[in-house]
Amino acid sequence: MKTEVLPAFLPDHSINEAAIRKAASLLQGGELVAIPTETVYGLAANALDEAAVAKIFAAKGRPQDNPLIVHIAEFEDLEPLVTEIPEAAKRLAKAFWPGPLTMILPRSPRVPAGVSAGLSTVAIRMPIHPAAAALIRAAGIPLAAPSANLSGSPSPTNAAYVLADMDGRIPLILDGGPSKVGVESTVVTLVGSVPRVLRPGGITVEQLRSVLGEVEVDDAVLHKLKDGAVAASPGMKYKHYAPRADITILKGTLERFCDYVAGKDATILCFQGEESHFAHAVTYGKAHDGASQAARLFDALRELDEQGAKTVYARCPELDGMGLAVYNRLIRAAGFHLVDLDDTEN
Ligand code: TXA
Ligand code: MG
Repeated sequence: MKTEVLPAFLPDHSINEAAIRKAASLLQGGELVAIPTETVYGLAANALDEAAVAKIFAAKGRPQDNPLIVHIAEFEDLEPLVTEIPEAAKRLAKAFWPGPLTMILPRSPRVPAGVSAGLSTVAIRMPIHPAAAALIRAAGIPLAAPSANLSGSPSPTNAAYVLADMDGRIPLILDGGPSKVGVESTVVTLVGSVPRVLRPGGITVEQLRSVLGEVEVDDAVLHKLKDGAVAASPGMKYKHYAPRADITILKGTLERFCDYVAGKDATILCFQGEESHFAHAVTYGKAHDGASQAARLFDALRELDEQGAKTVYARCPELDGMGLAVYNRLIRAAGFHLVDLDDTEN
């Protein structure tokens, strides 16, 4: 199959209506289209068409037990997809939709079980990217879409990375420019007594708490699941976001970091402005600025591969604000390998 790449915007920055129409008609016909969103690129199919959804799993090499997010363009689109809209969902939608927030709600029988990998719930999000919104409206259907990478590799934040993974597997990629947020949406479940974050992302835990009050953070966000444990969010259990390099996160000051890596043959994943300390460095955003780190992280992980990096030592992000999402992705890319330099044993 030949993969076409079409710009989602015209040179005057208006929506490329012809490209949107083409993408919409492919989706209506049960085909896959890679689409830009503000978080990362998605690999979309008609969420109400079981056969189209099955093509997503095949194209990505995605495990069948990892459920997909359904993307909508209006709040009204939510009602037919779920059996109940709790008050908390209405408040979150008012505050953060459209935007990088995914809510887990009880699934309506209208949504094929394959979308949710057989779970009784469904994940819903309303992206704010104008091309994504225009496409959902033009197609007139909700779009099931995971990140548009091959299963296990970092989520793509531009059309070139999508093409690298999906060339020959899908008919069309809509190029809407680089994704602004750079990490995936926050996944919060509203099924259960207290809202719980299953995956931190573009909306911070602090922002959720400002609207809902009490919000829990699932154990799997920061820690490796124990063997045999059941993941609330199945995506959390897979090796994810992983470049080929062997990454170790070093927690501690820049000074201790420099002492630790001195004389080691390694590539350093550090913050902007720190690269002069090292012979080989790739940067991921500014220190103390989780949003800038998120915007760069997946690109930086792909750059490590492009440079053929084998051993990587990474500076550790802070865990508040967007830093939590950055840490959650980086610790998985590192296979949970972290050394605490403040620990006197080291
Ligand atoms: O920003 C994003 O969320 C991007 C863009 C394309 O929208 N999408 C994305 O999809 O990251 P994906 O498939 O790579 O990640 C979806 C996550 C997985 O961790 C999955 O396990 C979880 O959401 N998930 C989906 N449905 C769920 C459900 N019903 N219950 C619990 N977790 C669910
Ligand atoms: Mg993904």
